[in-house]
Formats: sequence, structure tokens, C-alpha cells
Amino acid sequence: MKMQLKKILIEQVEVKSQFQVNKLILEGKELEKSLKYCLSKFTEGILDPDVAGKSPDRFIDNLQKNVLGNFSKRYIINAYDGKEIIGILVGLPQESEFLHIYGLHVAPEYRNKGVASTLLSKCINDMFIRNVREILLDVHTDNKPAYNLYKKFDFHEI
Ligand SMILES: CC(C)(COP(=O)(O)OP(=O)(O)OC[C@H]1O[C@@H](n2cnc3c(N)ncnc32)[C@H](O)[C@@H]1OP(=O)(O)O)[C@@H](O)C(=O)NCCC(=O)NCCS
Repeated sequence: MKMQLKKILIEQVEVKSQFQVNKLILEGKELEKSLKYCLSKFTEGILDPDVAGKSPDRFIDNLQKNVLGNFSKRYIINAYDGKEIIGILVGLPQESEFLHIYGLHVAPEYRNKGVASTLLSKCINDMFIRNVREILLDVHTDNKPAYNLYKKFDFHEI
């Protein structure tokens, strides 16, 4: 079952991590290539039946065509181990007050090492600083790793 979860941002969270996080600042074809790479490679083993085994092309096309929100205002960050990209978080502001996270993916060999927690913490802190007060996302209850992660970060069902 798919459900929408929401977190109200009341304070910043502590980021304890060995992994660096940077904003994805590419544009055009380079951006598309990077998104394709991350969203193909890092969805391996995904437990969401709506996404599992599917190419990310349609999602990327929808992003670029502003179907999910204003792509020019996108919030996309990557986690790195040295120079290697190991995780991605894709968010789009819906109105000035909230951000919708449309993807949070970690390279299979880097899972369970706190990479997603690092990306989510950075996102929460960046949004808090920008006066964004809510983060929304959709999760499939069968996707236990993702569901547990969001619950750990105090996301609640709407
Ligand atoms: C979901 C996902 C992003 C988690 O990334 P991660 O870097 O492994 O997560 P973290 O190491 O930061 O784990 C944080 C918390 O998530 C939960 N979690 C992570 N992996 C889990 C697993 N295999 N089983 C159960 N809970 C899990 C736990 O609550 C964990 O906290 P804990 O370590 O104190 O138990 C990763 O499994 C992934 O990329 N999955 C495929 C893509 C996907 O499904 N994305 C989400 C939907 S868009």
C-alpha cells in the first residue's frame, strides 16, 4: 500500500557522517546523464512495486516537463565516497512552504551505512534554513528499508 508521509520541520538535525554531500549543479544533457546513472544504478533491489524493474526515463521526463513541480527550483543532492557518487535525493518545492521528496536512493553496496540518513538530514537542515516547514513524500509500505528510515526521522502518515 502506498501512503503519503509528512514531516514538520521544527529544528535542525545533527549530521554525523563520513560521507560528503553536495548539491547537483549540472544542467541540460549532463544533468540528464547524471540522473539516469543514479536512478538506474541505485534502484537495484528496490522494494516499491511501482518502481521496481522500471527504467527511470519516464520519471526524468516528467521532472523535466515540470509534471511534478517546477524543475528549475529542484533540490537535488548527491552523497559521495571520495569522488564516487553513492546516493541521491531528488526534491521539488511545491509551494514556498513545503518540499516533496520524489526519490532517495543509495548504491546497493553502500546501504545500511547511514548514507540515506546523511542525505535526509542535509535536506531537512537546508529546508529549515530556507524557512520551508514541511517535507512530504510517498512510500510503499512493502518498502521496509524506506518506510523504517522515514519513521526514524519522524515522518507521519497524513
Ligand atoms: C531506502 C534506502 C534509501 C535506505 O538507505 P540506507 O543508506 O541504507 O539507509 P541508512 O543506512 O541511512 O538507514 C537508516 C534507517 O533506515 C532503516 N533501514 C535501512 N535499511 C533497512 C533495511 N534493510 N531493513 C529495515 N530497515 C532499514 C532503518 O531504520 C535504519 O536505521 P538503523 O540503522 O538505526 O536501523 C536504500 O535501501 C535504497 O536506496 N533502497 C532502494 C531505493 C528506495 O527504495 N528508495 C526509497 C523510495 S524512493
